[in-house]
Amino acid sequence: MKALIIRKYGGPEVLELAEIPDPAPSPGDVLVEVHAASVNPIDWKMREGRVLRFFDVPLPHVMGRDMSGVVREVGSEVTGLQPGDPVFGLANPLRDGTQAELVAIEADLVAKKPDALTHEEAASLGVSGLSMLAALEETAPVFRGMRVLVHAGAGGVGSLAIQYAVDRGAEVLATASARNTDYVRSLGASKVIDYKLSDWPQRALDCDVVFDTVGGSTHQDSQACLKPDGALVYLNAAPLPDTPPREDIMVLLAPVRTSREKLERVAELAAAGAVRAQVTETYPLHEADTAYARSQTGHTRGKIVIKLR
Ligand SMILES: NC(=O)c1ccc[n+]([C@@H]2O[C@H](COP(=O)([O-])OP(=O)(O)OC[C@H]3O[C@@H](n4cnc5c(N)ncnc54)[C@H](OP(=O)(O)O)[C@@H]3O)[C@@H](O)[C@H]2O)c1
Repeated sequence: MKALIIRKYGGPEVLELAEIPDPAPSPGDVLVEVHAASVNPIDWKMREGRVLRFFDVPLPHVMGRDMSGVVREVGSEVTGLQPGDPVFGLANPLRDGTQAELVAIEADLVAKKPDALTHEEAASLGVSGLSMLAALEETAPVFRGMRVLVHAGAGGVGSLAIQYAVDRGAEVLATASARNTDYVRSLGASKVIDYKLSDWPQRALDCDVVFDTVGGSTHQDSQACLKPDGALVYLNAAPLPDTPPREDIMVLLAPVRTSREKLERVAELAAAGAVRAQVTETYPLHEADTAYARSQTGHTRGKIVIKLR
């Protein structure tokens, strides 16, 4: 099969489109014909070897975590899935990934794809959807009447998080650069704040929850936006400053874990129209290097998807 692989860690030059043997599913796996695989910042961070302290990834490695496709084979221990089922899900980062024509993936890490979604849309929802749920449903739950600030509202995670919080009945503010103001407003944010303004925190005061996917000074300065007893929730990839947090707020890591149940929750929200997938750029597999370069700018809108079929 064709696959996007790395044989060593490094810059864009280590990405290689290779012909490699088809994967063989273990008893607990499904073998999936990948139709679409999205690109996440974790992909180029992994290519650079920046996640080695979290995952000891064996090389050579097939890249990619998110995917949507059709089950070709099921392992002997798999229940609830059949060949021909359309599924979406997330590869285990310690195993070969999804930016390939086929992936062998634990059956617990996929869920049925809603009929209403294309494969491109479903492939965009795994990492970002589970991150949104980890932050705003599981760690700092958002309820009707809350005031919520979502950072990087135009990004893969932020664009879903805004929609989710709006659907929960919250008043949603978001940060974005000026060129993304209209886009972020179209997702449901009632106020869009240009993060390049030095006084941005003063424009988003009295929040119950701030969701930070940016880290660094954004993480630190966000503390000013919270009410007493408010929660600053962040993803574990965010770099943290050393300064201690305010004592009257909670600063919470949202651990992003994958399971079929959580993917089904994302599918339910998407099928109900509570969150709409935000695919803004698609590339064929042989242009995956361009997809990675675009993601690595840190200034894309919504999700970038590699289309394989
Ligand atoms: N398990 C985990 O811990 C986990 C899971 C998912 C994501 N993450 C991490 O979370 C981060 C975001 O992921 P993502 O997929 O949403 O990334 P993304 O789609 O690449 O985010 C791009 C967006 O970030 C915005 N942005 C850049 N700098 C900003 C700033 N200072 N303030 C506000 N917005 C800013 C850009 O807006 P403009 O174009 O308008 O500048 C752009 O729309 C990444 O570091 C990722 O690795 C971690």
